Amino acid sequence: MYRKFYGLTRNPFEISPDPYFFYPTPRHNEALANLNYGVQRRKGFVVVTGEVGTGKTLLVRCLLDSLNRNQIAFAYVFNPRLSVPDFLRYMLTDLRLPTTGRTKSEMLAHLNNYLIARFRRGTTAALVVDEAQLLSWELLEEVRLLTNLETSQQKLLQIVLVGQPELDRKLDSPHLRQLKQRIGLRCRLEPLGAEELRGYIRRRLELAGANSHGSSIFSEEGIAAIHQFSHGIPRLINTLCENSLVSGYVKQVKQITPEIVQEVASDFRMDIPCTTSAPESEDAESRKKTLKALFRMIEELDGASEKQLDEAKLESGVKTE
Ligand SMILES: Nc1ncnc2c1ncn2[C@@H]1O[C@H](COP(=O)(O)OP(=O)(O)OP(=O)(O)O)[C@@H](O)[C@H]1O
Ligand SMILES: [Mg+2]
Repeated sequence: MYRKFYGLTRNPFEISPDPYFFYPTPRHNEALANLNYGVQRRKGFVVVTGEVGTGKTLLVRCLLDSLNRNQIAFAYVFNPRLSVPDFLRYMLTDLRLPTTGRTKSEMLAHLNNYLIARFRRGTTAALVVDEAQLLSWELLEEVRLLTNLETSQQKLLQIVLVGQPELDRKLDSPHLRQLKQRIGLRCRLEPLGAEELRGYIRRRLELAGANSHGSSIFSEEGIAAIHQFSHGIPRLINTLCENSLVSGYVKQVKQITPEIVQEVASDFRMDIPCTTSAPESEDAESRKKTLKALFRMIEELDGASEKQLDEAKLESGVKTE
């Protein structure tokens, strides 16, 4: 509804991860390059981690687009809470391989033949797992065994694991050391710094059709307030920006002020215990409080279940009272 008022042709701050809006911060760029390189150079195992809402699924979508362009076959698992047989069945089905009535060993043999045929044709295949922090220990072990599908020169299946920081902790555990040793590339996404956030907002507005006045839609002070309340987490930036535009339109103001941002932040309870500036300047205790508040907000925005929230808290080492 605000599009015409602000001279836009589409909504700039949707929270769905759309590769069209990809903004290449150095971290995101490096992670995407690692993913592409890892798969195309057949590094075997690539891992990307990052906090909730920092852009992991968006990176996965960008990677899948690039795999499609390069005609690299892939299986994409976005909900890895599966049993081992279901996981294998899902993976083969996604690679368009038949699974009906096959035992696990038959499925693995079929997968092996398929990968060898692709290798002979000079190409490869990838298994991409999003939300990989949810992989059970048993599945992680199974995934490790899949890296044994190789010729004497090359890995036949490229495995990409993308997940929240709990994945790093899982991979660091002693009984997964065999898997850890096989990781060819590993990197981590971080929240955006103040400068990156400014560029991020400008870029999204441009991609949504803003003309030369687009860069003044958010005042400098408004952008500073967005940084303060979002802590540089892209999903929260989008929520603040989108709702500030709606509110600005209702008020018929052409420039988003810090007061508007503050109002939106209060509506979404983003202003609860968020102390001062960036997370790195906070002490451990206030960082914990901030994380708790962020999880609460994200839960409300995403409609996540209480169980998921508890898991997220446990995984981040945040204890609930
Ligand atoms: N570099 C970026 N360029 C453009 N948009 C981004 C970028 N990083 C994140 N976003 C946007 O932020 C929002 C959240 O991103 P995404 O869903 O990928 O987060 P996530 O890390 O997968 O979160 P979760 O841990 O909850 O799964 C999406 O709208 C996405 O488009
Ligand atoms: Mg995600």
